[in-house]
Amino acid sequence: MADRSVTFTGIKFENPFLLSSAPPTESESNILRAFEAGWGGVVVKTIGLHPVVNVVGARTKFFRTSVDDNRVSMQKRAGSALHGSWNWELISDKGLDWWVPRIERIKKAFPTRVVIASVMAGSGSDKELKAWQTLTKACQDAGADGIETNFSCPHMDRKDMGSNIGKDEGLCSVVTEAVKEVAKVPVWTKLTPATGDIVVEAAACFRGGADAIVSSNTFPSLPVIDPETLEFEINVDGFVSSGGLGGPAILPLSLANMAKMTQAFPDRAFSGIGGVSDFNQALSYFLLGCGTVQVCTAAMLDHAVGPNVIRKLNEGLDAFLDRHAAEGWTSVEDFRGIRKDRVRLQSEIRRPDGDAYAGGVEPVEGYAANARE
Ligand SMILES: Cc1cc2nc3c(=O)[nH]c(=O)nc-3n(C[C@H](O)[C@H](O)[C@H](O)COP(=O)(O)O)c2cc1C
Repeated sequence: MADRSVTFTGIKFENPFLLSSAPPTESESNILRAFEAGWGGVVVKTIGLHPVVNVVGARTKFFRTSVDDNRVSMQKRAGSALHGSWNWELISDKGLDWWVPRIERIKKAFPTRVVIASVMAGSGSDKELKAWQTLTKACQDAGADGIETNFSCPHMDRKDMGSNIGKDEGLCSVVTEAVKEVAKVPVWTKLTPATGDIVVEAAACFRGGADAIVSSNTFPSLPVIDPETLEFEINVDGFVSSGGLGGPAILPLSLANMAKMTQAFPDRAFSGIGGVSDFNQALSYFLLGCGTVQVCTAAMLDHAVGPNVIRKLNEGLDAFLDRHAAEGWTSVEDFRGIRKDRVRLQSEIRRPDGDAYAGGVEPVEGYAANARE
C-alpha cells in the first residue's frame, strides 16, 4: 500500500511537505489553517530575542516575466508568469514570550503534525550563544518537535548573525554545538546559499552535531530599476538594501547546492527548499536525496498558507507512487536519492566520438546561429 508518511531525523511526518519559516507560518491562526489544509509540518517564522522592526511599506513583492519580452519586473502585466519572490523582511517581530503559548496550543490542537521552531541569535559573545540556548529550551519545552537554526537570513547588517554565520564554518560549528548542548529534540540547520562551497559549512554543522541541513534560504539580490522612473521597483525614500530572491527563479540554483551536499554526505538528512509549487519540483529534491521538502513563495500566493499547493503535492506524490507501483515503490524512501549519482564533473560527461569532436574549437570561424531551445 502506498504510504505518504516519512520519518525524518527521527520525527514521523504524515506527509513529507512543510511550510518553511516565512509569512505563511508567522501566526497561530496561519499555522492552524495550514494544518487543516493538510501540511505535514511547519517551520515557525524565525524567533529571536533581539528587537525587530521592519522597513516601512512592502516587505515582499513578486517578480513576473512575460513571453513576449522576457522582462523581469514586479509590475503586474496581463499574461505574465511568476519568476520569483523578493523580500527584505526580518525575522518574526513577535518575541519568544508571544510564541511559547502559541506553540503549546498548536501542538495540543494538532499533536500528530510536526512543529519545528526556527530560532536565531548572534554569535559574537557567550551571551549570544546563551541566547540560542534560551530559545531552544523554551521552544522544545513548549512542545516543538525540532529546532531549525537560522544561519541564512540574507539581509542582516550584524556580522555575527543570519547568513554571516552560514558563511563562516567556525561559527556554524560553534553555534550548532551550543544548541545541541541543550537540545532534546532534533536540530536542523538552515544554511545560506551565498557561499563559495556550501559543503564546507554543511560539514561544520554536522561536526557541531546537526541532525539535518536545510537548503535553501533566499539568494542575496536587488529589485530591478524601473526604466521610466529610474527608481528601484521596491524602495523606501528611494533607497533599497540587498534582500532575498525565492520562488521558481532559485529552483535550479538550490538543486545544485543540494546535489553537492547529498553527494558529500550520503548518509545524512536533508530538507530541500526553493521554487517548489507542486510535486514535479519536490520530486527533484527527493531524487537528489532529500527526505522532506519545504515551501514558501507558492504558499504565499495561494491563500497565504497554500491549501491548493499542499493538495497538489499530496496528489502528485500519490499519483507518482501509483505510476511506479510495478517497481515496488510504496513510499518516498523507495526513490529517495536515486538520481544523485547522475551529477558529475564536466570532464566526466561523454564527448562526441572521433572526428566530430574539435576540442571546443570550431573548424571554421563564423557567426554562430541563433540559439534554439
Ligand atoms: C517574505 C519572506 C520572509 C522569510 N522569512 C524567513 C525567516 O524568517 N526565516 C527563514 O529561515 N527563512 C525565511 N524566508 C525564506 C523561506 O523560508 C524560503 O527558504 C525561501 O523563500 C525559498 O523558498 P521558496 O522558493 O519556496 O520561496 C522568508 C522568505 C520570504 C519570501
